[in-house]
Amino acid sequence: MRVELFFTPHHIDELYLREKTVVVIDVLRASTTIARALSNGAKEIIPVTTVESAMKIVGNLSGDVTLLGGERNGKMIEGFHLGNSPLEYTEDRVKGKSIVFSSTNGSQALAKARHAKELVVCGFVNMSAVAEFLLATGSDVTILCSGRAGNFSIEDTVCAGMLITKLSEASGKVIECGDAGSAAMTLYKNAAKSIVKMLARSQHGQYLKEIGFVDDLRVCAEVDSVPVLPQLVGNVVKLKTAEKVSVVS
Ligand code: MLT
Repeated sequence: MRVELFFTPHHIDELYLREKTVVVIDVLRASTTIARALSNGAKEIIPVTTVESAMKIVGNLSGDVTLLGGERNGKMIEGFHLGNSPLEYTEDRVKGKSIVFSSTNGSQALAKARHAKELVVCGFVNMSAVAEFLLATGSDVTILCSGRAGNFSIEDTVCAGMLITKLSEASGKVIECGDAGSAAMTLYKNAAKSIVKMLARSQHGQYLKEIGFVDDLRVCAEVDSVPVLPQLVGNVVKLKTAEKVSVVS
């Protein structure tokens, strides 16, 4: 298995990802929020890049079964039902609902990879579920970090490094992953002792603390706390249920 890693989705042409198995990472916080929403019973997440298209889609659907979720500058968008804190996506709020979701960076990465052969969403919270899925498919993997405003983000890169490390340990093989993958593994090694500290020191983690979302950092740092596999099917992200996903030890 070969792994290629992109620190941001910005310079990639979506056609390049067409036949790939793609892992999209947005630790703070879209990946974590999507995993929690689906694990708490949301029917599906419909990722969209703009607020306008989110409004348009929701306007065509029944209000009882559809919610608008997401953020701009980390905060809930006017007229939306939910922001982007994973703690908001409780069973009470989301069970049985379709969630039209737009976030600053995560949704853009998902949009870039929408024609991928397989697309799964990864954070620390569902790390082993993603690793197990990739090991089972055995195909080469493209990891797409969402980054921050077109730039590198430490938390997505460390998460990618953890994923590559897990794949390598579980397969017992050295994974060919280029300089980007090697750098990510080194950063992960450095941060492994305390993921939550790494998140708290990150630029986006500091920003989230400033705007009142310090509790989200702990939630986003909990490895394997939400062992689900969100997967793009058509235009929506759903839980992969065909095969049972179990945790790699
Ligand atoms: C994003 O997609 O940019 C984020 O998930 C930002 C956030 O809400 O923390």
